[in-house]
Amino acid sequence: MQIKTVRSKEELTPVLLNPEADGPDFAYWVFSEITGGKKWENMTILSPGTYGEEFVKTFGHYHSDPFEETYLVVSGKGILLMQKKFFIDGSWIPTKVERFIIVSLSPGDEILITQEWGHSLCNVGNEPLITFDNWTHGHTPADYDQIEKLHGMAFYIVRKNGTADIEPNPNYNDHPNPEFMTAAEFAKLTK
Ligand SMILES: [Fe+2]
Repeated sequence: MQIKTVRSKEELTPVLLNPEADGPDFAYWVFSEITGGKKWENMTILSPGTYGEEFVKTFGHYHSDPFEETYLVVSGKGILLMQKKFFIDGSWIPTKVERFIIVSLSPGDEILITQEWGHSLCNVGNEPLITFDNWTHGHTPADYDQIEKLHGMAFYIVRKNGTADIEPNPNYNDHPNPEFMTAAEFAKLTK
């Protein structure tokens, strides 16, 4: 097993709702080669906690490569934010999203992600959120560029009155109504 990524608070700053907010020094760790070439390749561990009111999350990315990715939730209480690319006449318009889906995650859930979906994991529990995934194709800066420019996904997940709530990211245009689903419901949608 190798340490692939360690994402500090400072590195997450470009995509935070409030870049000045205090929070955990390290947001998440990604380890690779976790099962020696078997089904799962990477393990991601997200700290519990918030940056200001926003829950700890992964940076968020799209896939430049047309391969599918599957996540398995191992432990913790999370949310997977999914935003579907919006196209006009075949041109991708990154400032707008076709759909925004908030998938609640429980241990044992498996979620398939296809190329049209940008995605970010968010820890809304009181303990580390741990996931496995099978992505072996690496990433290029282009996978992260648009999300970095727009300072995050189309919505932020924030703590309000003790529970998780959503906050639109004003850098996007015409937000769709966010849709709330379980992993099983999302699986039916992408079949
Ligand atoms: Fe991915």
